[in-house]
Amino acid sequence: MSTFTSDDRNRNESGNEPLDAVVDRYLSRRSVMKGGLGAAIAMIAGGGLTACFDGGGGSNDDPAPSQPTPAPQLKLGFESIRGARLDAIVLAAGYSARTLAPWGTPLNNLANAWRSDGSNTSTDQANAAGMHHDGMHFFPLNNSSSDGLLAINYEYIDQKVLHPNGPTTTNGKRPAEEVRKEINAHGAAVIRIRKVDGIWQVVTNDALNRRFTSATPMEIAGPLRGNANLITPYSPDGTRTRGTNNNCGNGFTPWGTYLTCEENWPGIFVNKGTLPVDQKRIGIGSKSNYGWETPAGDASEVDNEFRRFDLTPTGASATQDFRNEASGYGYIVEIDPYNSAAPATKRTAMGRFRHEGSAYGIPVAGQPLAFYMGDDSRNEYIYKFVSAAAWDPADANSANRLAIGAKYLDNGTLYVARFDDGGNGKWLPLTVNAPTKDGRTLGALYGDLAGIILNTRGAADAVGATPMDRPEWTTVNPFTGEVYVTLTNNSARTAANAANPRVPNVNGHIVRWKDNSNQTDFTWDIFVFGADGGAAPDINRSGLTELNQFASPDGLAFDSRGILWIETDNSDNAVAEYTNDQLLAVIPAQVVDGSGKQVAISATNQTALRRFLVGPNGCEITGITWTPDLTTMFINVQHPDNWPFSEVATDATPAGTKVRSRASTVVIQKLDGGPIGV
Ligand code: FEO
Ligand code: CA
Ligand code: CA
Ligand code: CA
Repeated sequence: MSTFTSDDRNRNESGNEPLDAVVDRYLSRRSVMKGGLGAAIAMIAGGGLTACFDGGGGSNDDPAPSQPTPAPQLKLGFESIRGARLDAIVLAAGYSARTLAPWGTPLNNLANAWRSDGSNTSTDQANAAGMHHDGMHFFPLNNSSSDGLLAINYEYIDQKVLHPNGPTTTNGKRPAEEVRKEINAHGAAVIRIRKVDGIWQVVTNDALNRRFTSATPMEIAGPLRGNANLITPYSPDGTRTRGTNNNCGNGFTPWGTYLTCEENWPGIFVNKGTLPVDQKRIGIGSKSNYGWETPAGDASEVDNEFRRFDLTPTGASATQDFRNEASGYGYIVEIDPYNSAAPATKRTAMGRFRHEGSAYGIPVAGQPLAFYMGDDSRNEYIYKFVSAAAWDPADANSANRLAIGAKYLDNGTLYVARFDDGGNGKWLPLTVNAPTKDGRTLGALYGDLAGIILNTRGAADAVGATPMDRPEWTTVNPFTGEVYVTLTNNSARTAANAANPRVPNVNGHIVRWKDNSNQTDFTWDIFVFGADGGAAPDINRSGLTELNQFASPDGLAFDSRGILWIETDNSDNAVAEYTNDQLLAVIPAQVVDGSGKQVAISATNQTALRRFLVGPNGCEITGITWTPDLTTMFINVQHPDNWPFSEVATDATPAGTKVRSRASTVVIQKLDGGPIGV
């Protein structure tokens, strides 16, 4: 994301103890025990924090049943590449990279071809690929690896690039047409794509092609459906809303639907009155990012399409103004890519916050499903939703996918994570009877479950969750069920160790944990610390070198073989001076100690982490998905400075040439047609 749409303010005034404090206290305790900070860091880097990973015992120890492990012969089949700072994709030898469906690509014949002067209309934009590609997932048709549906998020916009000469304002009002184009450039899409003669292309006019914008009608499902806080002039019964916004990371489900996650949406709204507690805690303010509310009253306005972004109460009730419009945002939205008639549905039971993404635990027949989620702002939390329904494998093949979604995603328990010393942690339920730190209950604070969900962050504060350094993507090891989360950075954090010349969380890190089967306890460790390879050992705790130094991890996904892919969204640090954002790979099951137990990345094993790809100048690398046979990998390049120059993503924009930059999906294939990465 850009610093413009992201939330750099610390809105967490809970006083809950941040993870860095837990780690630092652990460090200092180890320092006393082991005789020095260096030894303590070696303990952490070498897996000293791993309660479950090193087989540490304890009353909460609840070893999972034995799982299959990745094929022992699995190994990365490429050499780590050096960093790069070019207007081009650079990637490992033996691979090709092509652009697919960059911003403005028409999906049907209602849209004109993309024009490099920015002059496409709002109607063109509503029928074309949106701006700033982010999370995505490939849904095969008939299990094909050459024909399928790409469900994709369009996170945010660059107004300067979207319009011919940037945004305009006259007498404090934005032009209606510009605002409509901006609204239509956000959201998500389902795009039919097919490989023809080895090259993936968009199937224009396919019946399954769909755009979801920040104006598309959507259903509200779960505890907030029909709630008084969802009543608007558009939906007097509180069951529907319009639009999804700032769709960042993504998830998908075992029954074949896409999950798109609403992250930095508060900036599209304005409230000039007194903020309700939920709006204050989540970051709605007295000024909107883009002024979408300003054309309200325009002669062309239809059904309050602009007025709805102004939350200021002006009428006698919620059916006379849009005081509740923002209550329809902050959710995970389920989309059935295979059924263009199925409405996008907001699954409110999964919590209301700045959702980054979602990953599900290994489904086990007869057991509930778990979905892991991060709230990406400084000092926010990690959540887990556990379904009330037990998993029935037959549901993976239902044709009525949204009914299956309702079964698993509308009823369940939302938990928030507390990371304790010594590598243990607790999932704290956000339920009516849940005790708060001050001896009350969440029910006493927020009334009912709907009130708790509306105020998810406040409820998490109240039960004592652990503030984290901006939780981004989660992913689950498909063989062991361990969950990994990127904590991208928290540059405002004061140094925990005054002897460090740099603030450690400029670089971010990756935490992993393993849930016990009781769903409420887990054990955790830090898998890898981002750092500049030349940094002091107490910053570069994983012993990274030029060949794998990274910072600000963001996108994160295991592929089906157990390779973990790490994408970065970095800027303004020593790593950024060395290289543009990148994609790295590692096989955690092979990062083990002498007894075969998984350990963290350290100086002794860091060559297991390899750089596969580097993006063009200015971009972040995000979004990742594969065809079932793993011979095609799709990633996204978001907000490049001066790229793409051609459909060959590795073609550098010539010096002196300036292109209108376009975020794009990048299709990676091996020159010999084999599976990616091995
Ligand atoms: Fe949209 Fe947290 O990155
Ligand atoms: Ca970025
Ligand atoms: Ca992200
Ligand atoms: Ca990010």
